[in-house]
Amino acid sequence: MPGYIVVGGQWGDEGKGSVVAYLAMRDEPEIIARGGVGTNAGHSVFIGGKKYAVRQLPTAFMQRKARLLVGAGVLVDPEVFFHELEHLKDFNVSERVGIDYRCSIIEEKHRILDRTNGHLHGEIGTTGSGCGPANADRVMRRAKLARDVPELEPYLTDVAAEVNEALDEGKLVLVEGTQGFGLSLYYGTYPYVTSKDTTASAVASDVGIGPTRVDEVILVLRSFPTRVGAGPFPTEMEEAEAERLGLIEYGTVTGRKRRGGGFDFEFARYSARVNGATMVALTMLDLYDRGAFGVTDYDKLPAKAREFVEEVEERVGVPVGLIRTGPELEHTIDRREVI
Ligand code: GTP
Ligand code: IMP
Ligand code: MG
Repeated sequence: MPGYIVVGGQWGDEGKGSVVAYLAMRDEPEIIARGGVGTNAGHSVFIGGKKYAVRQLPTAFMQRKARLLVGAGVLVDPEVFFHELEHLKDFNVSERVGIDYRCSIIEEKHRILDRTNGHLHGEIGTTGSGCGPANADRVMRRAKLARDVPELEPYLTDVAAEVNEALDEGKLVLVEGTQGFGLSLYYGTYPYVTSKDTTASAVASDVGIGPTRVDEVILVLRSFPTRVGAGPFPTEMEEAEAERLGLIEYGTVTGRKRRGGGFDFEFARYSARVNGATMVALTMLDLYDRGAFGVTDYDKLPAKAREFVEEVEERVGVPVGLIRTGPELEHTIDRREVI
């Protein structure tokens, strides 16, 4: 299984970061490439009780043997990039990272527009990271590219060439997506969406691989989905109920409160279809059933949690190969051999 992609199946924050980090440590891919929109995404991972948040670099930075790549489709904010190199310096990231020379650059004017424009900031509730305005400039064909920024020069590469060569040699390549299906510019709850498609096909294109090179698409679904910003959320709960269930969280990028809701089987099934999912990674099972916290063996899960997993498999129509039962990387049930 040389090429696999991890994408979000709901409204982002499904815990893709921890799934990708787990896979990177367990499977030891030689290349970890990030697709997706840009610095609007915030993935957090806990390693040894310490929280690391990344918005630009691949979330699986902790796999020291891997080359870390940012695909041509991803927006690059040089300030965030250099900040993360510093934040992650214990992991020797700067020696292993490569940015495609064709990435569009997020400039200050994009961030300012994203934070002051009434439509973007006020109505849609964007992250203010400048992604929408920067993608608009790319479409207008006036964007600055990574190759135009001298400070980025040491990191520039052809990500598409590197990834395809690795796949030709039978090496394992892990590709990370960002956001989630409900935020896709095409398939999400338009206009309350991000500035680009977020499905697995778009993520493959971001890093320069064709659909025939993707062997597995892992769709990450939260047992209780969340949504930040405005827009429809059919299974949304009253705030008090979400609070009671411990679902109220705050965004990694914006610090905004996440709205919480129940699992929407219909939506998840549709999302799995359009993404071509071959496997589901079900996260936050410990929020569904407290007794599931930290369990690493499927047979040791409480009956209520197991019944939920079975219902997801049946109603979404895709096997659940990975289950997350807590924030630490080891809080994972890996059933990939069992299925
Ligand atoms: P986006 O690209 O923004 O969608 O990021 P993401 O999908 O990586 O998720 P994000 O890190 O924003 O939010 C998920 C949060 O839940 C993080 O704080 C994780 O550490 C935490 N988390 C991940 N898996 C689990 C789990 O199974 N149980 C619990 N309790 N927390 C988890
Ligand atoms: P933008 O991507 O900053 O333009 O924001 C558009 C919409 O997508 C807003 O509702 C944001 O809250 C949402 N969004 C963008 N990135 C993320 C993410 O990583 N997690 C959750 N929501 C996101
Ligand atoms: Mg997030």
